Amino acid sequence: MDKSSKKIIVTGGAGFIGSALIRMIINETEHEVLNIDKLTYAGHLESLESISDSNRYQFEQVDICDAEEINRIFNEFHPDAIMHLAAESHVDRSIDGSAEFIITNVNGTHALLEEAKQYWQSLEGDRKESFRFLHVSTDEVYGELGDEGFFTEETPYDPRSPYSSSKASSDHLVRAWHHTYGLPTMITNCSNNYGPYQFPEKLIPVVILKALQGEDIPVYGTGENVRDWLYVDDHARALLKVVEEGEPGETYNIGGHNEKQNIEVVHTICDTLNELVPKETGGNFRELISFVTDRPGHDFRYAIDASKIEKELGWTPEETFDSGIKKTIQWYLENIDWCEAVTENNYDLERLGTA
Ligand code: NAD
Ligand code: DAU
Repeated sequence: MDKSSKKIIVTGGAGFIGSALIRMIINETEHEVLNIDKLTYAGHLESLESISDSNRYQFEQVDICDAEEINRIFNEFHPDAIMHLAAESHVDRSIDGSAEFIITNVNGTHALLEEAKQYWQSLEGDRKESFRFLHVSTDEVYGELGDEGFFTEETPYDPRSPYSSSKASSDHLVRAWHHTYGLPTMITNCSNNYGPYQFPEKLIPVVILKALQGEDIPVYGTGENVRDWLYVDDHARALLKVVEEGEPGETYNIGGHNEKQNIEVVHTICDTLNELVPKETGGNFRELISFVTDRPGHDFRYAIDASKIEKELGWTPEETFDSGIKKTIQWYLENIDWCEAVTENNYDLERLGTA
């Protein structure tokens, strides 16, 4: 592909990262987007309100497992690329029930690969040459790290949760469709994202909302587990670079160079809230921190070596953790309505994943 105006299918575009990606594509490029999303508990069209009137944006409520519908969409829309983000994405939910993770992440990716293969084989000339299938995956496929070291694209797969093993399975399928059929696929493996519009089941929005509600802030285990945080727009920018300039058959690791222990992240959020919305009683949000039973199989540390994407495609993150976390907290303070709308009747910030 290249930067000139193209037709892109984004799967999972009503989710956290997919909606950031679509907002960026519509606001900053000439590409046309068709968003395919099943609208599970995690998918919300409210996240796309700012661009939904664009004549370069369309939406279809479709399950990626529905091969017939995917086939129809490929033949009607004639995409130049597919950016595949649709997935069950929450580790804790995968511990409580793995079936949906296998259905969507494994079978759904298989259905998309089969339909993409058939469609791609029907193309000719430049359109066939430049077609791309970008599979968006996670650093969790590599397992966990100790105190030292980084995940590179050569790190052996060692997934340890139902979620990460379903994503690893889908990565293997994608590589197999490249090697066996020549489908021009690429895979990205990214670290933990944060930013606006993240469903409030993941650490950062849970901490912000629990604190604002004056409830205990649940920190799993000792709080010493380490994640490598990346602002969601930096991830979206990396995905655009890869789909436009990446090499078929390649994998690109994407990470923030922002390793933090969970407890450091929680302290930063509490301290920022102390500044932005000081308690009338003078209390400190840190008083709400509560260490709770650990997540079963909790991976200790993730950290990404992102030197390949930097060297080959010139991508580096623009946001620091300090600036990104402030913007994120400010966004949640100003968008409590969005949080209430997306959790209504489906989630009350309760603890998940205790098995
Ligand atoms: P999310 O849970 O916020 O959004 C997932 C979206 O996929 C939702 O809109 C949902 O409705 C849709 N979806 C789920 N099942 C579907 C199906 N069967 N058919 C069609 N649509 C379906 O997830 P996210 O955090 O935005 O993650 C997006 C992708 O990026 C996932 O593939 C995830 O594995 C990967 N990823 C996430 C992170 C992270 O930190 N959030 C980091 C690295 C990689
Ligand atoms: O590394 C990339 C992955 O990051 C993505 O592939 C996943 O889709 C995404 O959900 C995320 O997985 P994590 O399990 O790392 O994210 P989560 O926000 O659930 O948890 C981050 C850390 O915080 C983890 O060590 C568990 C801990 N935690 C989480 C929650 C929800 C808590 O201590 N308390 C909590 O309430």
